[in-house]
Amino acid sequence: MITVVLGTQWGDEGKGKVIDYLAEDVDIVARYQGGANAGHTVVVNGRQFIFHLVPSGILYPDKVCVIGNGVVIDPVSFLEEVSYLKDNGIDVEGRLFVAENAHITLPYHKLLDQIEDRFRGKGSLGTTGRGIGTTYADKFNRVGIRAVDFLDDDIFRNKLDIALELKNYLFREYYKEKMLNKDKIYEEYKEAREGMKGMVRNTSLYLHDEVEKGRHVLAEGAQGTFLDIDFGTYPYVTASNSISGGACTGLGVSPKKISRIIGVVKAYTTRVGMGPFPTELDGEEGDNLRKTGNEYGATTGRPRRCGWFDSVLVKFACMVNGIDELVMTKLDVLSGQEKIKIGVAYEFGGEIHNDYTFNSKVFSNCSVVYEEMAGWCDDIGRVKEYRHLPANAKKYIERIEQLIEVPISKISVGSSREQTISK
Ligand code: GDP
Ligand code: IMO
Ligand code: MG
Repeated sequence: MITVVLGTQWGDEGKGKVIDYLAEDVDIVARYQGGANAGHTVVVNGRQFIFHLVPSGILYPDKVCVIGNGVVIDPVSFLEEVSYLKDNGIDVEGRLFVAENAHITLPYHKLLDQIEDRFRGKGSLGTTGRGIGTTYADKFNRVGIRAVDFLDDDIFRNKLDIALELKNYLFREYYKEKMLNKDKIYEEYKEAREGMKGMVRNTSLYLHDEVEKGRHVLAEGAQGTFLDIDFGTYPYVTASNSISGGACTGLGVSPKKISRIIGVVKAYTTRVGMGPFPTELDGEEGDNLRKTGNEYGATTGRPRRCGWFDSVLVKFACMVNGIDELVMTKLDVLSGQEKIKIGVAYEFGGEIHNDYTFNSKVFSNCSVVYEEMAGWCDDIGRVKEYRHLPANAKKYIERIEQLIEVPISKISVGSSREQTISK
């Protein structure tokens, strides 16, 4: 059986915390897309871990973790994570696998990502600069290098040759940058190739066999629904399918095996990087939310843009992902707000839009129709049972459930495992 856990907004919903919490009851945690652009935070016994590529279930010594074929892997970033875990007493030996057919991010991908985003000028996306879009572009352009290719001396050299031909032409002729040297890259990655050798395998076959044996797999999504390449706020999106459908192509598992889909949703909205954000709060209100929620990127440290909950977005996310239940995070951050707003529709050119729209003219320029609710002052970080939450907090949760027509099954009121309430 496979359960998918994914983000329903613009990423950073608290997927890492929720996946770590849910991982206790599963056998395998498998990441299905994205790359080292992700930053998934897990806090256990007061210690904080930020995962970029390693699945968020790794802290349990008996869980197997898989990085699926849909992920793009920066070997340097990956092995840094692995050695950080080892240094902190977490042994990954024999329980961390990488898909043979996952694509590898190399120095030219990162360089090109950063240069391209600069060259976009006014149209800059504010990417993480981790070479994500450029690695996926090579994959689709059929000049990518997969993990299995990376490990083979001859194939790696050959593919590097082909990939660098065009890249170096661009660097030299167009971007006026230094060219990259194939032999240097080959030498620089010797150690990384050695380090990854024991982990690379056919993970699609492995997952299939484990599911057949009755094991429970948790498929970990990165980013969020509105950063999805097809359904997000294009072009201000990432370069992969973060929606639930991405779990099938990103792990090589059949849709028939997916039995549950859980959405992670923040009690308000945040976004990093450029792009439209209808419920964004400018000025002091946004600053306060950022400060209280400590909203700074786990990967790049950039301040996250903050705003009110947008039920139009989350309703669409529930539809496109087929979400069965939601876990709401960071409700504690809203404590102390006198009034809390929920965006319930958009207004543009005298027309009301009750649904998410791909029309960027509407989505970028609309005003939001809000409902206003009374807030609560109590610190809720220690609340263990739903009935002990302040009445107004419960009203807020229940109003959101009504608006999006999907149950909120758990509420997170702090970053650690224990600060999770079942409803
Ligand atoms: P992800 O990318 O979806 O895994 O989310 P991030 O880890 O990038 O960002 C979520 C941040 O919120 C992290 O710093 C978490 O430790 C923190 N966090 C998660 N859940 C809660 C919560 O319920 N309350 C508070 N205050 N912080 C939380
Ligand atoms: P997690 O998994 C939030 C954003 C970047 C940028 C856009 C494209 O931690 O939720 P990219 O480097 O992917 O080409 O950048 O996507 N972005 C994220 N925002 N959380 C993430 O991951 C993100 N991964 C990418 O800021 O706007
Ligand atoms: Mg994050």
